[in-house]
Amino acid sequence: MEPKTVTRHLLEDHREIKRLLGEMENALEPTDLKRIGDIVDRLEPLVELHRRKEEEIFLPALARCMFDHPKPLAAVTHDHGVEETYLEEVKSFLTVMEDVSFLKPLVDACRSLVQFFRDHLWKEESFIFPCAERSLSDEVKWELLVRMEDLEKESAHAGTAQKET
Ligand SMILES: [Fe+2]
Ligand SMILES: [Fe+2]
Repeated sequence: MEPKTVTRHLLEDHREIKRLLGEMENALEPTDLKRIGDIVDRLEPLVELHRRKEEEIFLPALARCMFDHPKPLAAVTHDHGVEETYLEEVKSFLTVMEDVSFLKPLVDACRSLVQFFRDHLWKEESFIFPCAERSLSDEVKWELLVRMEDLEKESAHAGTAQKET
């Protein structure tokens, strides 16, 4: 097995996000509302945690060595806001799912969400992650990986604690 690295850790999240996007696509025709709802319930916390890893841990470290080129990093953060809007839009259609007139807008919103997420993941994998691999020292990469794993444990713990209450 290849050793864990910070970008590989993020890529594993991407793989799981892409898997759920594929599932969402499969649930659109014929439209399976229950399945779409279940996928959104799994996608949302995963994306939220992944976004925190990138915005709280990964991007600030990258910004320190890329201060001459802040635009790509700002674009990543901007995309995260748009992703959130897409998720909220799909969720709002799901709350009125007994009204069939919302079926087409829901399917369209899901398709836009899938497309946007895929583009975003592609941008990070093609430009941001390779740049991190080149720019960050081994020491920093290791520190970021440990912090991301800690954040993951913390959030799993918070999730369990929430379920118990
Ligand atoms: Fe991202
Ligand atoms: Fe990402």
